[in-house]
Amino acid sequence: MAYLNGEYLPLEECKVSVLDRGFIFGDAIYELIPVYHAKPFYLQAHLARLARSLDQIKISNPHTDDVWEEIISSLIKQSGLTQLSVYLQVTRGVAKRDHAFPVNITPTVFAMTNAWPMANPDMYEKGLTVVTAQDMRWERCDIKATSLLANVMKKQQAVENNADEAILIRDGVVLEGAATNVFVVKEGHVMTAPKNNLILPGITRDAVVEILNENNIPLLEQAPSVQQLEQADEVWITSSTKECAPVTTVDAKPVGSGKPGELWQKVYHLYQEQKS
Ligand code: PDD
Repeated sequence: MAYLNGEYLPLEECKVSVLDRGFIFGDAIYELIPVYHAKPFYLQAHLARLARSLDQIKISNPHTDDVWEEIISSLIKQSGLTQLSVYLQVTRGVAKRDHAFPVNITPTVFAMTNAWPMANPDMYEKGLTVVTAQDMRWERCDIKATSLLANVMKKQQAVENNADEAILIRDGVVLEGAATNVFVVKEGHVMTAPKNNLILPGITRDAVVEILNENNIPLLEQAPSVQQLEQADEVWITSSTKECAPVTTVDAKPVGSGKPGELWQKVYHLYQEQKS
């Protein structure tokens, strides 16, 4: 099921102009919201990040939070699913091609639901495989923009190396994955890159940080060095689709024991409890 500019319709019937700046320039913002038991998870946080991203690129938010909530809940109902994801996208709108944008332009609002890709149980038994890669993105990674060419190329590099994700390194430190945030654990201490312009402030990252704080698990919001990544006992990646997943191989070398770690298991279970 999908929504385009005020209408609910099947995805195949959604049509957008080729002059839409989302198509021409990737001039657009998006969100992906997980839904469990037909209820959007951390909805307010996703809507706040959407509002911030739009503000940062000077697109005025086309809807109040109440209207966004209404669109999202209608889509969930119409999908007939209880576990799904809702993708939202706002582009700057349709205009004659020119890098600079006109002032009075109407944003294009698109949303769609997708059935939840059930996590492969193997992922939790064996853990995930990642490769490290040079971060070649721009310096506003905090904006959730659809222009994701660098992320696309890095994720593809991972796939071509039979890995699940690429971990991005800039100036010798671990920032995040191509589509995930990264946590590194050594002797019970957890590290993750701070929220600044060099990473996307992940909602799942925040949820995991909250779990760590509530359970008095020591956390340092500082980007781990490549050496700290290599010598880690545990590595986790987080996102709305991967939740909190254990990484057991980095650049073909085992992480710690080579099995999902004990601290990951604890945090994973606490995360699952939040869904109910
Ligand atoms: N990706 N970092 C990047 C670069 C991301 O693209 C994502 C999410 C995250 C995790 O954010 P969150 O926990 O809010 O999902 C971190 C989404 C899922 C995507 O692009 O499909």
